[in-house]
Amino acid sequence: MSRFAHIFILTGAGISAESGLGTFRDTGGVWSRFSWEELATPQGYARNPQRVLDFYNARRTNLLAASPNPAHTALARLAAHQAAGGRQLTLVTQNVDDLHERAGSPDVIHMHGELLAGWCVSCGWRGHWAQDMPKGGGCPACGDDGQLRPDVVWFGEMPYQMDLIGERLMLADLFVSIGTSGSVYPAAGFVDEARRLGIPRVEINLEPSDNGWMFDRTHHGPASTEVPGWVDALIAGSW
Ligand code: OAD
Repeated sequence: MSRFAHIFILTGAGISAESGLGTFRDTGGVWSRFSWEELATPQGYARNPQRVLDFYNARRTNLLAASPNPAHTALARLAAHQAAGGRQLTLVTQNVDDLHERAGSPDVIHMHGELLAGWCVSCGWRGHWAQDMPKGGGCPACGDDGQLRPDVVWFGEMPYQMDLIGERLMLADLFVSIGTSGSVYPAAGFVDEARRLGIPRVEINLEPSDNGWMFDRTHHGPASTEVPGWVDALIAGSW
């Protein structure tokens, strides 16, 4: 049985890489092929909404064709194990995909928003959105006067649910980071906060991340094998 009462897990693009969804900063990653200034900022959207919508429409299409991999499934198994023992697991993801949910993880906190959600910048409507987003109109609430954008957090915008995330981190007794380069704040600062709080810290990543030295234990390799192996060990009483 896991010895931890409250495990806090942060995931990033690396956990979904083997599901066929691209990472951002690896060689050939999304931001080496596309301009984040043009595609992931409010200013880029104001300059050219169609270019931004096309980019996210293509990512949404890829997501709908993708499936969870064994790393997502293992975290759902760990959540069920924690719940069965009256323990807790907080899963915070920087990913805008829904692969944790499709693998069975409950209550996923999407700090960078969700690709399968829309937000009307005209009237403020927010809701589930699984099809291509049209330029001009398309808002279920205000119709042709509306302008939808994906409900994802862009550079320069405040990530979602930061108060809840801070509360959960304070209560955690194990911090785990999976598949993130540790280069985008505020998420990149969570490990330092955990260190300050004296919480043991584990990193699972293909390679050492930018802040890899802040972790007590590291597992380097593909998430699809490293995460299930680590979950098995944790459930057996290790960490
Ligand atoms: P990055 O692309 O910065 O980092 C992905 C990490 O995953 C890298 O450290 C890789 O080594 C690792 N990785 C790659 N393949 C892996 C695999 N199969 N198994 C395990 N690890 C693997 O992605 P994030 O850290 O998630 O934000 O990026 C953070 C944010 O930057 C994203 O949420 C996004 C992006 O710009 C916004 O769009 C606002």
